[in-house]
Amino acid sequence: MHVIEANGARIPAIGLGTWELRGRTCARIVEQALKLGYRHLDTAQAYDNEREVGDGIRASGVKRDEIFLTTKIWTNHFAPHELERSAKESLVRLRQPYVDLLLLHWPNPQVPLAETLGALAHAKSMGLARHIGVSNFTVALIEQAVKACPEPLVCDQVEYHPYLDQSKVMAACAQAGMALVAYSPVAKGKIKTDETLGRIGRFYRKTPAQVCLRWLVQQNVPAVPRTSKIERLSENLDIFDFELTDEEMKAIFALHNPKGRMTDFGFAPKWD
Ligand SMILES: NC(=O)c1ccc[n+]([C@@H]2O[C@H](COP(=O)([O-])OP(=O)(O)OC[C@H]3O[C@@H](n4cnc5c(N)ncnc54)[C@H](OP(=O)(O)O)[C@@H]3O)[C@@H](O)[C@H]2O)c1
Repeated sequence: MHVIEANGARIPAIGLGTWELRGRTCARIVEQALKLGYRHLDTAQAYDNEREVGDGIRASGVKRDEIFLTTKIWTNHFAPHELERSAKESLVRLRQPYVDLLLLHWPNPQVPLAETLGALAHAKSMGLARHIGVSNFTVALIEQAVKACPEPLVCDQVEYHPYLDQSKVMAACAQAGMALVAYSPVAKGKIKTDETLGRIGRFYRKTPAQVCLRWLVQQNVPAVPRTSKIERLSENLDIFDFELTDEEMKAIFALHNPKGRMTDFGFAPKWD
């Protein structure tokens, strides 16, 4: 598996997103993904499926130290003691001694960032997480976080796909040695009918989703596509036997548009 390095972490380039995967479907998809060669799983307290992700890991028989497991702390647990307690609860649900990456799911201006980051770093020093990072942070927030955090942050997980320009966040991450991890990397399935991705894919005998994921990985961006379909698990992983040309990369960069963002909430920060 291709790995992307960031501030000491080795993040497998393709991971399985698990948002909206629940119950048996979730456990079965996680198990199958690991059996097919996935080594990176992305869950969160807010997905209400940590238990099932843990079930899938155990059913797969894949050794724990071969897996890169991420979970995310929800924003109501950002007060220092609360963060530690809630990280431990995640580990109980996952039935795991540690996660590889523990993220702050969204910024929360109600709690001073330095206090939350101090608690996150403490969770790492206690061995609850191998690495720590953030999600949905803007350039300004990344800069504040990097200054305030006593431990290196390894990533900012944000929405990224061909329809959304993330060049500013990408530059801020690179400056800090962090990876930009792409969520909604296949634009929630919208890329399926994209003409440009389809045209490029026909040449390589690849699907639009595979071209899209290849475009991300060629920028050193780990991506966590989600699927509930076993056949798509292999499709989304099978992107390491071809390479896009500079011209093809550019054609895909040109697809971004101002209305490309798909995830936005009232509590979201002011995006770059
Ligand atoms: N940090 C955050 O705030 C945040 C926010 C959103 C998401 N995430 C993470 O990122 C993961 C992925 O994002 P996402 O779930 O929003 O969107 P996504 O992975 O871009 O898209 C998932 C959708 O695309 C379809 N799909 C998957 N592979 C496909 C393929 N090869 N061809 C065509 N359609 C395909 C899936 O349908 P089928 O199930 O029918 O295959 C599903 O409806 C999440 O599961 C979660 O782990 C994080």
